[in-house]
Amino acid sequence: MYKIQNRRYIGSKSKLIPFIDKVLNSENIKFNTCADLFAGTGVVAEHFLSQGKKAFINDNLFSNYIFYNAWLSNDEYSPIKISKWLNYYNQSTDYMQNNYFSDTFAGTYFSYNNAKFIGSVREHLETIKNKLTKREYYILLSSLLYSADKIANTVGHYEVFLSSKPQESKIELLPLEIQQYKQPAIITYADANAIASAINADLAYIDPPYNSRQYINFYHILENIAEWKKMSVLGKTLKIQRNNKKSDYSTSKALNALTDLISKIKTKYILLSYNNTYKANSEASNNKITFEQLQTTLSKFGKLTIYDSTYKFFNSGKTFFDGHKEFLFVCKIK
Ligand SMILES: C[S@@+](CC[C@H](N)C(=O)[O-])C[C@H]1O[C@@H](n2cnc3c(N)ncnc32)[C@H](O)[C@@H]1O
Repeated sequence: MYKIQNRRYIGSKSKLIPFIDKVLNSENIKFNTCADLFAGTGVVAEHFLSQGKKAFINDNLFSNYIFYNAWLSNDEYSPIKISKWLNYYNQSTDYMQNNYFSDTFAGTYFSYNNAKFIGSVREHLETIKNKLTKREYYILLSSLLYSADKIANTVGHYEVFLSSKPQESKIELLPLEIQQYKQPAIITYADANAIASAINADLAYIDPPYNSRQYINFYHILENIAEWKKMSVLGKTLKIQRNNKKSDYSTSKALNALTDLISKIKTKYILLSYNNTYKANSEASNNKITFEQLQTTLSKFGKLTIYDSTYKFFNSGKTFFDGHKEFLFVCKIK
C-alpha cells in the first residue's frame, strides 16, 4: 500500500509537520479553514484535513493535482473496482503493446519492459474512463505514477537519468491507503497568484520554491504521464515543452510575486516555510528571496515571528544557516 508521503519529492515537508504543529501551538493559532497554495506532495494539507479543517489545495503541476484528487478529495469511489483494475494490470498482459512511452523512454528512465507497462496502463486507462468515477480514475492514475516514480532510474527527480541500466524487475501497481476527511478539500491546479484573490481562509501556508530550479524540470516525466498528450521530447533528458509551467518564484520576479500573493489572499495568519536546502555553490542554488527581504516584506503585513527548526525564536544576530536550514515565518495580519 502507498501512503501519501511515499514519494521522493524535493522540498516535501513530511518530516517537518511536528515543527509546524509546535509553532502553531506556541503562537496559539486556532483556525478552521486553511490554504496550501504550493502544496507539492499535499502532506501539509493532508495533516490539516486530518485535524478536521477545511482546506484549499493548489499547485501548478497537473500531476500533483491528480494526486490531491486521489488522496484528499471526499468524492465517492469503489475500493472493489480499484482493486479489480489493479489486479488486472498487474496480472494480465492482454492490454500490453508498444506505445508512446516505450518508444520514447525505453532504456533511459525505465527499462523497455517497464516503459511498455507504464505506457500500456496509461493508454488503457483512457479506454475505461467512462466506466470509472473521476475519483477512481485519479486513484488508478496515482497508483501508476507512484509506482513509476518508485522504480525510475534517477536520484529521485528527472533532471537527469542515471548512466547505469534502468532496473529490470517488473513494476507493480500498489493500492493507495486512502483516509476519510470530514471537511471537503477544494482542489485547484493553477498559478498561486492567479487564484490568490479567490482565497478566503483563516490560515495560509506558503511554501514556494526559492531557487532557480524549476519543479517542472524535476518532475516532467510524471507530468508527461499525467497529461498524456504524447508530446515530443527535447534534449538528452527528454523533457516535454514546458514554458507555460515555469514558476516566477524561481526567477528574479520572486519577491514581487510573493508580495503580490500576500496582498491578495484574505487571511488572518500567514505561515511561510523558508529554507536553503541546497548548498549555495552555484548560481542556480542561490535563493531568489533573501531572509532579510522576507523579514522586511512580511513585517509590512502584520506582526512577524520567525522560528528556526530547533523551535526557538530566531534572533537576527545569529549566523543563521549554520545548522539551521528550515524556518517558519508566522505573520499575524494587521
Ligand atoms: C517546496 S515545494 C512544496 C512542498 C510541499 N509543501 C510539500 O510538503 O510537499 C513548492 C511547490 O510549489 C509549486 N509551485 C511553484 N510555483 C508555483 C506557482 N506559481 N503556483 C503554484 N504552485 C507553484 C511546485 O510545483 C512545488 O510543488
